[in-house]
Order: sequence, then C-alpha cells, then structure tokens
Amino acid sequence: MRVNYPYLHQQFAEVDHIFDDLRELVSTGQFTLGPFVEKFEKKFAAYIGVKHVISTNTGTDALILALKACGVKAGDEVITVANTFYATAGAIVAAGATPVFIDCDKRMQIDSTKIEDAITTKTAAIVPVHWMGVPADMETIMEIADRRKIAVVEDACPAVGAEIDGKRCGSFGKANGFSFHPLKPLNVWGDGGAITTNDDKVADFLRLYRNHGMTDRDHIVVWGINSRIQPIQAVVATRVLDTVDHSNSVRLRNATLLDEGLFDLSEFIELSPRSEKYKAVFQLYVIRAQRRDELSDYLRSKEIECCIHYPLPLHLQNAAKPLGYKRGDFPECEKQANEIITLPAHQYINEEQIAYTLEHIRKFYRG
Ligand SMILES: Cc1ncc(COP(=O)(O)O)c(C=O)c1O
Repeated sequence: MRVNYPYLHQQFAEVDHIFDDLRELVSTGQFTLGPFVEKFEKKFAAYIGVKHVISTNTGTDALILALKACGVKAGDEVITVANTFYATAGAIVAAGATPVFIDCDKRMQIDSTKIEDAITTKTAAIVPVHWMGVPADMETIMEIADRRKIAVVEDACPAVGAEIDGKRCGSFGKANGFSFHPLKPLNVWGDGGAITTNDDKVADFLRLYRNHGMTDRDHIVVWGINSRIQPIQAVVATRVLDTVDHSNSVRLRNATLLDEGLFDLSEFIELSPRSEKYKAVFQLYVIRAQRRDELSDYLRSKEIECCIHYPLPLHLQNAAKPLGYKRGDFPECEKQANEIITLPAHQYINEEQIAYTLEHIRKFYRG
C-alpha cells in the first residue's frame, strides 16, 4: 500500500464545472480584477466572517500588504514565532521591519505567555501564525495587543476554516493573510492569496495599493504595486471554497484516527494537546517522535510519504544571522525541530491507509 503525500491529481480529477466557469471568464475577457474576483472576495468574506476581502497574488504578498496597511515600516519590530514557514519572516522583512522571534508552546503555536516580554518601543505588530492549520491563542494575543495598542496581523495562510470557539481564524487581527497555494486547505491552480479585514480604511488602502494605487487608469493616489489575484485563480478558489468544509472534516477525521491510534505509544510519541476550543484543519498533521529520523526512513521504506516541517527553525537559518540569534534561544522550538514528523492525513487518505500507517509506527517501536 502507498500512503501518498501529494493529492492534487485526485482533488482535480473532475474539473468540468471549473472549466465551464473558466470558459465564461474567457468569453468576457475580464482578466484584470473584475466581476469574477469580486464574486470570490464576497464569498470568502462571508465564509471567514469579515467585512472585506482583498485578494492578492500570493499569501506572502497578503502578509506584506497587511503589515503595510497596519502602518509597519522601516525600523519597526514585528513579533512572530520561530517555527513557521519562511514567508512569515520574509514578509516582515519585505515590509521593512525586523522580525523578533519568540518560542512556541506544546501546541506548536506561538507561546502567548512570552509575547509581552518581547514588546519594545519599536514593536509595530504581532504576527501569530495558525501553524499547521491549528489556531494560535488569539484570546490572549488580542488582549495583549489591545492593551498595548499594537496591531495584530494573523498569518492564517494554512488555516482556512480553522476556528476558535466558533470564530474563524483570520477574523481576529486588524488585517490578516491567507494563502491559496496548492497545498493549502483552499487551494488554486498556482498561487493566490487574500487579506481579510473589518477595517474600512485598511480595506480602501489595500484595494488601491495592490492595484498600483490607481483610482482609475489615469490617476494614482499612492505609489502601489501590482499584487492582483489572477481572475483564473479567483474562479478556481470560488469553486474550491464550496468543498473546503468537507475536505477539512476529512482531515479532522484522519487526525482524530491517528491521535487515537498513537495514544498507546505515548512512551515514544508525543501528541500536541488538543482542545474543543480550537478547531484545527490539519493542513499538516505533525507529531513528535523518538528516533524521528529512523522512523522517517522506516516509514518511507514502507511507502508512507512522511515529511518534516521543518528541521531548522527560522532563527537558526542563514538568513537570520544578522539578527544575532543563537542555538538555545528558543528551546521548545529547537527540541520540536528534532522530533517533529508530518504524517499524510489529507482528505484523500482513507481509513485503510491510516491503519497501515499506525501498524508500521507500532512495528517500528515495538517490533
Ligand atoms: C505559515 C505560512 N505563511 C505564509 C505562507 C506563504 O504563502 P504563499 O506560498 O502563498 O506565498 C505559507 C505557505 O506557503 C505558510 O505556510
């Protein structure tokens, strides 16, 4: 049996309905913003539960633009977590600011108890990441940010559909970024992203800024850039949004089956604490495992395509050298980097494949 990590060929095996919509798009020639993009933005705003969606070319652009819209500029500091994808820090740097990393907690999310100590007079924003599609502790983060009058930009890139007490990730911060990269819960046929906000002024700025700052083809009011989503991708996203709750629910089922099956291996495997409060969408299903590298090789030899997200935290990357961090600065995150392993748990993994994965993890540890 093969337990495959890629699944896009399965997800997009039947796409006649999307091609029908694309034919309609092509017949109108609306290839720059326009009604297909607007339709998606309205639908996504209703889904997340926010007033405005401004779609962008990528999730990275969504974060850069969200930071700029919150006033982040050169010389500022932005607090984020050290165990995330590079783009979180890359976006902060691209907005002109310096990333200030803090450790993660046992849930593999930004350790909200450490945020307050990292705030300085230069702190312009906090960027919690809903890493792996698991919600960060937004209640504590929003309380700190509101009290200290600091903007929050959620990196909700991997977290379409994740919720805290029924409120969707991407609806807490002042402006928040989503990615529609092919391996995200809401995925398109290439790159795409979006910013969500309830702030009218932020939305007005972002609509201008992502489109050269143009009010019409003869006038600009701010120097902007071109970070428009491609209407082709908006068409795909509009359709995939119809299926995202279902695929998230299958991921959740798979994660629960894996959790239950791994429970009796607790001397070898550590699961993140789960709670009813945080509804995760498991863009990645990550566990902590003893002898991780050996387990990874063994599972791969059994055609179980596991991965590691990621073996080297951001503060220890070459790019971070000028920031002056060193090994030992973020012990939890560094320990996790040596132990984490991502198991295939996506929406095309079935119960037999889960059972096969569990059987081989058991065999690896218990023989
Ligand atoms: C946490 C996180 N932030 C940002 C990004 C960047 O998104 P994109 O690849 O669409 O630029 C990603 C995904 O790639 C991500 O996982």
